[in-house]
Amino acid sequence: MKIAAIVGSNREDSYNKKLALYMQDRYKESMDMDFVAIDTFPLYNQDEEHRPPSPVQTAYEKITSSDGVLIVTPEYNHSIPAVLKNAIDWFSRTGNPLTAKPVMIAGASQGPLGTIRSQLHLRQILNSPGMSARVLPQNEIFVGSVQHKIDDEGRLTDQATVDFIDNVVENFKTWVHQNS
Ligand code: FNR
Repeated sequence: MKIAAIVGSNREDSYNKKLALYMQDRYKESMDMDFVAIDTFPLYNQDEEHRPPSPVQTAYEKITSSDGVLIVTPEYNHSIPAVLKNAIDWFSRTGNPLTAKPVMIAGASQGPLGTIRSQLHLRQILNSPGMSARVLPQNEIFVGSVQHKIDDEGRLTDQATVDFIDNVVENFKTWVHQNS
């Protein structure tokens, strides 16, 4: 199963990037996860949407050829970071590779709520008519207090969190099969 992974943080030492890398390694037997760079997208401008810049085109091709998409997002001021919203706005106006695509959402934060508010916003955005992605229902991956659950090598050390993610990923694989 080919999965395109989008990380909503452009921070070098990002916990969300570490979570995505951990998932890439842990599920490598069943999911071939390829990262889609969005932090090189220019700021969206409607004047430019008929000639999308090359990072947008590259992302479009990776997402289009995938069976499903993983979006791992931080929470910024109770919503998604601008870098992720910028990418979504580009996608929505340039053929929208996310339309009808099975999507799994995950997120990590240092606070206790583990990006719950940004994930709710992200679901709302992905369900808008311009996006129409098929977001995995009833399952989300929230990792709160992440600084205490990940070691220096990027391994998740909290077994309950690992079990929780294993379960959601199994449900996502079924969701991908049902929607492809
Ligand atoms: C944050 N952070 C944050 N955390 C949270 O739980 N709720 C929030 O609303 C916010 N808001 C917020 C705004 C801005 C501008 C920044 C920079 C940070 C903290 C955030 O969860 C923390 O910095 C994470 O480590 C960011 O994710 P990455 O970059 O580590 O993946």
